[in-house]
Amino acid sequence: MAKKNIDWANLSFEYQPTDMSYVSQWKDGVWDDGQLVADSNITLNECACVFQYAQTCFEGLKAYETVDGKVVIFRPDLNAQRLADSARTLEMAPVPEDKFIEAVKQVVKANIDYVPPYGSGAALYIRPFEFGSSAVIGVAPADEYQFRILVTPVGPYFKEGVKPIYIRVCDCDRAAPHGTGHIKAGLNYAMSLHNIVEAHKLGFAENMYLDAATRTYVEETGGANFLFVTKDGKLVTPESDSILPSITRRSLMIVAEKYLGMEVEQRKVRFDEVKDFAEIGLCGTAAVISPIGKINDHGTDIEVPSGMDEIGPVLGKLRETLIDIQEGRLEAPEGWIVEIK
Ligand code: PLP
Ligand code: COI
Repeated sequence: MAKKNIDWANLSFEYQPTDMSYVSQWKDGVWDDGQLVADSNITLNECACVFQYAQTCFEGLKAYETVDGKVVIFRPDLNAQRLADSARTLEMAPVPEDKFIEAVKQVVKANIDYVPPYGSGAALYIRPFEFGSSAVIGVAPADEYQFRILVTPVGPYFKEGVKPIYIRVCDCDRAAPHGTGHIKAGLNYAMSLHNIVEAHKLGFAENMYLDAATRTYVEETGGANFLFVTKDGKLVTPESDSILPSITRRSLMIVAEKYLGMEVEQRKVRFDEVKDFAEIGLCGTAAVISPIGKINDHGTDIEVPSGMDEIGPVLGKLRETLIDIQEGRLEAPEGWIVEIK
């Protein structure tokens, strides 16, 4: 089969339908075998728990071509574990890790012609998700669940690509202490929609959230963890129980230490220290690393020394090294790259 006729180089981060999705149902205490379906619509009872009480969580990972023409995914075991953590927190049936990885492989294979060609900068975004599918009216978990995976080809998450972005400090909170900030629950993103729409209207690409209890420490943005580089070249990343444990960030910490010989520190980062860093970036599956050039704090700009023109040298090197590992130009740590075809 030939690749689909898509303008790969100009894709943005937008949904488009593909050929097949994966569906599995949990009922009477067990997951069925799962199957591929061509229908991308779902029919559910109007009282399904997902509609009434937002019982849903998701994951995001990418399939892409490597330099030697293989189609691979990156550390899917960590997505599987995180989805299961999210599910348990929301009182949903966790999907076993081997079932998750097998399903991802199946659905990518079924849509292999949508995997962008090597070097295009695009990827096939994989969105596994799970929701309470049976009806409840009293506040309670569902007793039936659906685990689905859709895939869609995407380009860069921020239209700026690797150009630095301008963000603002947000006055609203993303997640409460001891709440659901550490899991990938749909409800966390519902909470962020008003804030992101407002940020975009005002010309900012994202929101910087501070800790909800004291508004003293940096948390994350609506869809990515923060990376900071000190003036003496150390990588610093915020420690918090209410941010998502980003797989990209955890991988970059290893890359920084083991491949680039950098010192790496995960600790609470005070907002008033932000002005002292040499480089600042966001990291996540969708953006890999996106540099930040300026942060608006209630009308006052914090100008990051690396500026608004290009990514700084340290984050640039980190980004390039991770992408070299992902695309097979540098040897990956054991188990990081899982071959699909
Ligand atoms: N933080 C939030 C809130 C996210 O939605 C994401 C995206 O998945 C990330 C961080 C980055 O996580 P990962 O690197 O696992 O994609
Ligand atoms: C990411 O992959 O970094 C994301 O933020 C995904 C987003 C679309 C929820």
